[in-house]
Amino acid sequence: MPSLVHTEIETAVKGFLIDQEKMTEVVERMTKEIKMGLAKDTHARAVIKCFVSHVQDLPTGKERGKYLALDLGGSNFRVLLVNLISNSDVEIMSKGYNFPLTLMSGSGKALFDFLAESLSEFCHTHGLENESLPLGFTFSFPLQQQGLSKGILVAWTKGFSCEGVVGKNVVSLLQEAIDRRGDIKINTVAILNDTVGTLMSCAFYHPNCRIGLIVGTGSNACYVEKTVNAECFEGYQTSPKPSMIINCEWGAFGDNGVLEFVRTSYDKIVDKVTPNPGKQTFEKCISGMYMGELVRLVVIDMIAKGFMFHGIISEKIQERWSFKTAYISDVESDAPGEYRNCNKVLSELGILGCQEPDKEALRYICEAVSSRSAKLCACGLVTIINKMNINEVVIGIDGSVYRFHPKYHDMLQYHMKKLLKPGVKFELIVSEDGSGRGAALVAATAVQAKSKL
Ligand code: BGC
Repeated sequence: MPSLVHTEIETAVKGFLIDQEKMTEVVERMTKEIKMGLAKDTHARAVIKCFVSHVQDLPTGKERGKYLALDLGGSNFRVLLVNLISNSDVEIMSKGYNFPLTLMSGSGKALFDFLAESLSEFCHTHGLENESLPLGFTFSFPLQQQGLSKGILVAWTKGFSCEGVVGKNVVSLLQEAIDRRGDIKINTVAILNDTVGTLMSCAFYHPNCRIGLIVGTGSNACYVEKTVNAECFEGYQTSPKPSMIINCEWGAFGDNGVLEFVRTSYDKIVDKVTPNPGKQTFEKCISGMYMGELVRLVVIDMIAKGFMFHGIISEKIQERWSFKTAYISDVESDAPGEYRNCNKVLSELGILGCQEPDKEALRYICEAVSSRSAKLCACGLVTIINKMNINEVVIGIDGSVYRFHPKYHDMLQYHMKKLLKPGVKFELIVSEDGSGRGAALVAATAVQAKSKL
């Protein structure tokens, strides 16, 4: 601990500092849960659902053609046009649409009408309204998939709570919204999770990629399992294809209480103010939607107890969610003993004229929260690698926390090495455009499968 940091602050963040023993325990517990999710008998009561994605083919590099893609999953909504020209040339045009926050908790109809409207606008701008291109829909929420183009929403996560969607086939809801407009021709051939898009996109260039990971607004991973182990897939014993991508939905790990030993009182406060209390326990310890709020809660607790900022609290920092997760990356980007980014963050929060020990304390709190996130993520990846029982693997990764936090990659790598059996080699690679190129690749698989019928 830095010498300038008050011991009271050290005590407050102690709960975030998980040691090797606890990490090993997390791996053991997660291994059990993943096995339960995969097995037919235990799937219904499993918390890590291990959903079958129905994607059985990794890219060959020979996929070609034009595809549309939709990307809905967190803070942004995008429409993309992807042209797979050759294995080294992929053209992507995309447009982000301003996603009104009210849509996140409004009616399902309003949400899907907005998606259809944006899609229509995009198609008209690019002269695609009469083309009937195949579309891959990256929908980054837990889906019970009944085929490549049929997915029932199991629950909303990441702050969404639109009415009338849980329990419904999301592809039909999109199609109905498109049909209500009647001004574009769209053929939704595949719906996929963002982790699956990330894996596919990375595998296009790195054939040894077998795991897709997202550490962004939410967190989740998928991996390539043997089809015979994917017991919830109808054809698990008869399919001629040896592999199946499994969407773990690891965010729900701990919803049955098995993660209490790595949670803190601050985690419990965050959980209570979300639209899905008691759900997505692992995700709430790891992902960008929650990390900033965890830091803020520790800070205001320390201010109230008089251990930071001379007890002086700004209005801004009292607002829920005002400490953005991006601030953690900013604060931790300063070199030791320097506070340029930290000063900027503090001034945005209306906290002026504080002393070096306060800034050190803030950094210490940020490090505690981000390093727990990286450690838990490392546990998750190690669980999956052990389950796959392989000695070499590439992991494709996307998400704002992984991309922008200055030390996340190194922390992940360091802790994975410590937890893995000696001799297991892995590479962590940023996967570009999972929800564009990845969605197009899954759509290409779907089109190919249909043409063989
Ligand atoms: C969702 C997952 C998604 C992850 C990352 C989670 O909240 O349940 O489906 O992959 O966020 O976007």
